[in-house]
Amino acid sequence: MASLDTKTRGRTSRGRLRALDAYLCRCERPLLERNEGPWAHAVFVDVGFGEHPWTTLESAQAFRALNPELTVVGVELDAERAAAAQADADARTHFRQGGFELPLRADEPARLVRAMNLLRQGAPERVPEVHRTLAGYLLPSGLLVEGSADATGAVLSAHLLRRASDAAGMPFREGLLFYTDFSHGFAPVLFRDWLPRDLRRRVRPGEPIHDFFAAWSAAWQQARAAGHVRPPDAFREAACGLATRVDGVETDPWLLSHGYVVWRPKGGVCF
Ligand SMILES: C[S@@+](CC[C@H](N)C(=O)[O-])C[C@H]1O[C@@H](n2cnc3c(N)ncnc32)[C@H](O)[C@@H]1O
Repeated sequence: MASLDTKTRGRTSRGRLRALDAYLCRCERPLLERNEGPWAHAVFVDVGFGEHPWTTLESAQAFRALNPELTVVGVELDAERAAAAQADADARTHFRQGGFELPLRADEPARLVRAMNLLRQGAPERVPEVHRTLAGYLLPSGLLVEGSADATGAVLSAHLLRRASDAAGMPFREGLLFYTDFSHGFAPVLFRDWLPRDLRRRVRPGEPIHDFFAAWSAAWQQARAAGHVRPPDAFREAACGLATRVDGVETDPWLLSHGYVVWRPKGGVCF
């Protein structure tokens, strides 16, 4: 079978994935902290860290506030970038050249694999195979996060994919995460260009992701009509309205006040 890896020359910027780090620290704390049995050696893998390993180092710092012993592995397809990142390596922070067939040792299972802003140019049909390949390195109940963000991380969305506890194979499409810092205002349509690769061109009538955005837009318009026009207010009220229209939209106050919508439908995201 042809390699799933496609050479891309994308860049990154400092802080681009900080909001994702904050979400994971808050909502996946047990996953980051657990250290029993095989979890003692379970690593965080940042796939495709980019021209500089900034996002990997920022995540390492954030996650080690919860788990000081955490080993972090940054993986980069581009050999020069992987070599340059060695300057930032230390005993628990490794940078390795490699692709979706992750360069992990047998005694390095993954607890969390992040693949942000890698798939923007690849064929959407290949995404499930990328998910299956990356999830194969996770311990049961480990998490794969794959998605897209704008250049500064002001708008981000991602798949939350969980490795089933009993078997390898396709990970469970547990949910979708949306984040904005409101610097571009807010309307649900803001996310359309920053959806994960396999959903981006599918916001059109007849597609379930279109129905989701139609419900979100209707809730947003209703919120604005009721006087919630400041972007953070409109965002919060629209999310609460969306939760009455669509199953599985979380209304946790911390999430909504920090710009996150998490949609975790019972049975998973089935499209
Ligand atoms: C746009 S940068 C993203 C950097 C960072 N993840 C971020 O979100 O800002 C994409 C990087 O991923 C690398 N890349 C692309 N496909 C890859 C693959 N299959 N495995 C590992 N790295 C890959 C590219 O070489 C590039 O440096």
